[in-house]
Amino acid sequence: MRLDKLLSNMGYGSRKEVRQLQKKGAVRVNGETEKKPGVNIDTENDLVTVMGEPVVYRKYIYIMMNKPQDVLSATEDGHARTVVDLLDAEFRHFKPFPVGRLDKDTEGFLLLSNDGKLAHNLLSPKKEVPKTYFAKVSGVVTEADIESFAAGVTLDDGYETKPGKLKIIRSGETSEIELTITEGKFHQVKRMFETVGKKVVYLKRLSMGPLQLDETLPLGAYRELTEEEVELLQSTTEA
Ligand code: URA
Repeated sequence: MRLDKLLSNMGYGSRKEVRQLQKKGAVRVNGETEKKPGVNIDTENDLVTVMGEPVVYRKYIYIMMNKPQDVLSATEDGHARTVVDLLDAEFRHFKPFPVGRLDKDTEGFLLLSNDGKLAHNLLSPKKEVPKTYFAKVSGVVTEADIESFAAGVTLDDGYETKPGKLKIIRSGETSEIELTITEGKFHQVKRMFETVGKKVVYLKRLSMGPLQLDETLPLGAYRELTEEEVELLQSTTEA
């Protein structure tokens, strides 16, 4: 890859800004000052430094966000704020996108990445990646609802869901539940409750596949996944 492109991709500024850095002699390749922007870099073997600091080259980023309400699961929108708008520029330049969508009023675990293969695998219906949600539901959630969800319910458009695992945490005028589903139809959790005559009034995703929401992340905050977490995600979707 061209040196100026590599440095620009790694967040050292525009190609023009990178060239200025090079002109100043701030960029070295394998110990030698390099002023040619187009020089080819072998990202596996060449050591590039900027002002003495090694440039760690990576292609992909993986971010776990605790999505707040009122933010869209999209990369850009003419009007509303998106989850990508919440990221610092150092992450945005990797061009991450949300892996799957949460509704505007849903909170919780959202993965953002620029790894198309991982995203494809996580979202593929064939992989049946489990997603667990916490919800507050108006109305008394019952054992009969557990049984209905376990058998699969028919949504308003005729779609028959796969079995969902419903756990009642508290049943009352407003019930609290956890629901695990292995697919991601539009508004699925809300629509599943509609089939049993109840309304979701608060929804938060707790986990996706093997990863749980890091509860130390306040709403709107995010962190990169650790290497172990990325490997865990990859191994569960590649199996
Ligand atoms: N199900 C929903 O109804 N909404 C979400 O945001 C996610 C799952």
